[in-house]
Amino acid sequence: MKLLQTDLSQVENFVEEVLRMESPTAGMWRVVTQDTKLEDVDLKAGSLVMIRFDASNRDPIKFPEGERFDVRRHNASNHLSFGYGIHYCLGAMLAGKEMQIAYERLLLRIKNIRLAQDDYQYLPNILMRGLKHLYIEFDKVAVEQSETQH
Ligand code: HEM
Repeated sequence: MKLLQTDLSQVENFVEEVLRMESPTAGMWRVVTQDTKLEDVDLKAGSLVMIRFDASNRDPIKFPEGERFDVRRHNASNHLSFGYGIHYCLGAMLAGKEMQIAYERLLLRIKNIRLAQDDYQYLPNILMRGLKHLYIEFDKVAVEQSETQH
């Protein structure tokens, strides 16, 4: 947080790293259209498979130390959180921009974000990754300071 508040230009990459690590759409269904061999797994035409965006976003070949949140990760934006190919998310640019603007605004107004309770839970959902609840505390940035920065 301190790093971002010192340099708001880092927020863009921060957003990509958040999307990589949290993968809000964690997976999606696909129907196999023709008999296929993937590595040593036979996939028969008509089978239902689930592709996992979240797993590919932790692929150690692509993202070394993928379990580590790294604001400066050089290839963070190579994540698959918006899918890939013909069904690539139509709202990707909008969603990314909204996150960037929201974080920039928040960073100007609050500081010292911390967990108020550490019993946060994720929703039991195989497709969408999201928190059931998360209690946080933070301090307010002095108005004069926030106004001069903005
Ligand atoms: C952080 C927010 C978002 C995430 C993580 C996300 C993720 C995704 C993913 C993974 C897919 C691909 C699904 C697949 O491969 O079958 C997708 C498709 C799609 N998304 Fe998003 N999305 C987000 C926000 C939005 C927004 C804001 C809009 C609209 C304004 C949107 C509209 C769509 C549409 C229309 C598709 C279907 C594209 C197609 O099948 O051709 N998404 N999204």
